[in-house]
Amino acid sequence: MEKIYQELLEKAKKASLNTYSPYSNFPVGACVLYENNNEYLGCNVENVSYGLTLCAERNAISTAITNNEKTKIKAIAIYSPKQTKCMPCGACRQWLSEFASEQGCKIILEDNNDGILILNLEEIFPSGFKFEK
Ligand code: THU
Repeated sequence: MEKIYQELLEKAKKASLNTYSPYSNFPVGACVLYENNNEYLGCNVENVSYGLTLCAERNAISTAITNNEKTKIKAIAIYSPKQTKCMPCGACRQWLSEFASEQGCKIILEDNNDGILILNLEEIFPSGFKFEK
């Protein structure tokens, strides 16, 4: 399992090379893994109107939806060359919780010393907003 997560992080790293982040100079890449083992990439896309910036994680999830993905997310790897342990922002946590697998959603990050850090979405985003449809 650890190997799958390492590979996911490598893919997030590659996606970070495609970033459009001239304002922050803070590239981010993400690779999201679904229950059916489909994977989708995303990178951050900034805008001169700063608040319009799209995060890598939400771009990856949008790509999944665009490709008609109907299963849930079991893991997401997030990588920035500028920072180890590049945690997802609050908005991205809320997005992840919308599509997270009932069995849980792992957050895969680069740790110090080239290792990987595996967190659970539940622990970094407990009690997220929900309502009954
Ligand atoms: N960023 C992401 O792509 N994901 C996050 O979860 C946090 C921040 C991007 C947005 C912006 O382009 C840059 O990182 C600096 O904030």
